[in-house]
Amino acid sequence: MTERISLNVDGKRVSLLRGRERKIFYIHSSGSDAEQWRYQLEEIGGYAIDLPNHGKSESAEIGSVDDYARYVSKAIRQTCGSAVIAGHSLGGAVAQKVCLNYPETCIGLVLVGTGARLRVLPEILENLRKKPEDAVKKILEMGFFRKDERYEEMKKKYIQNAEVLHLDLSLCDRFDLLEDYRSGKMEIGVPTLIVVGREDRLTPVKYAEFFKNHIPGSELAVIDNASHMVMLERPDEFNSVLESFLRKVLSE
Ligand code: COA
Repeated sequence: MTERISLNVDGKRVSLLRGRERKIFYIHSSGSDAEQWRYQLEEIGGYAIDLPNHGKSESAEIGSVDDYARYVSKAIRQTCGSAVIAGHSLGGAVAQKVCLNYPETCIGLVLVGTGARLRVLPEILENLRKKPEDAVKKILEMGFFRKDERYEEMKKKYIQNAEVLHLDLSLCDRFDLLEDYRSGKMEIGVPTLIVVGREDRLTPVKYAEFFKNHIPGSELAVIDNASHMVMLERPDEFNSVLESFLRKVLSE
C-alpha cells in the first residue's frame, strides 16, 4: 500500500509517497514526480519525493542541482534519517550531490539512467520554449522503448510541465562531475548499484560504464528491452536487481 505524506522543509510543503517502511529514498527525473516509482513503492517500499515545483510539492526557487539536494537531504532526515538513495536522470544527479554534500544521509546509491555529466541536446532545450510538443516528442522517442500507456502518461505530464521540464533540463545541462570523478575528487564510498536500459538514448550505457569504472565495488545492471524509463518499462527486472542490492546493503 502506498500513501501520501507531507513534510515541512525550510517552510515549504514537500509531498512524498510512502510504501512499507524501508530505508530507500527515490528521486524522480526532469518534469516528473514521485508516481514514476509506483512499482518500486508497491513492491519494495520506501519513500519517493515530489521535488519542489513538481507533483504535489510547493514551488520554491531552484537554481541548481545542489538546491534540490538540500531539500532531499532534509526530507531524508525527517523520514528515514539516512537511506539508500535511488535517483533517476536529474534525480541521479541530485543523488550524487546528496551523497557528496550530506554523506551522513546516504548509506548507498542507486544510479538509474543517469550520468556524471548530463548535457542535453540544444534542440530539446530550444524547442521546450518555442514548440514544447516537438521537444516532448523527441524526449519520448529517445527515452521510451515502446509506445504504451506509460509513454502516453509521461507525454501528458511533460506537456503540462513544459516550463519545469525546461528548468530541470537546463540544470542537467550544467551538471558536470566528470573531471571530479576522473581526478578522484568525487569519491563515492558507499555501496552503489548502477542501472540502465540497454536502449537508453538519453543517458546511454556508456555513462553507466563510466560510473562502473570510477566507483569502487559498484555493480552494473543493463536491462534489455528498456530505454531511459527503465523502472516503469521493466519493473519486474528492475525490482529484482534492486531487491538483491537492498538485502545486501541493509543486511536484511
Ligand atoms: N559519462 C561518461 N562520458 C560522458 C558523459 C557521461 N555522463 N557525458 C559525456 N561524456 C563523454 C561523451 O561520450 C563524449 O566523449 P567522446 O568525446 O569520447 O565522444 C564527451 O564526454 C563529450 O560529450 P558531451 O559532454 O555530451 O558533449 P558533446 O558536445 O559531445 O555532446 C550532446 C552533447 C547533447 C549531443 C550529447 O551530450 C548527447 O547526445 N546527449 C544525450 C541526449 C540528451 O539530451 N540527454 C539528456 C540527458 S538529461
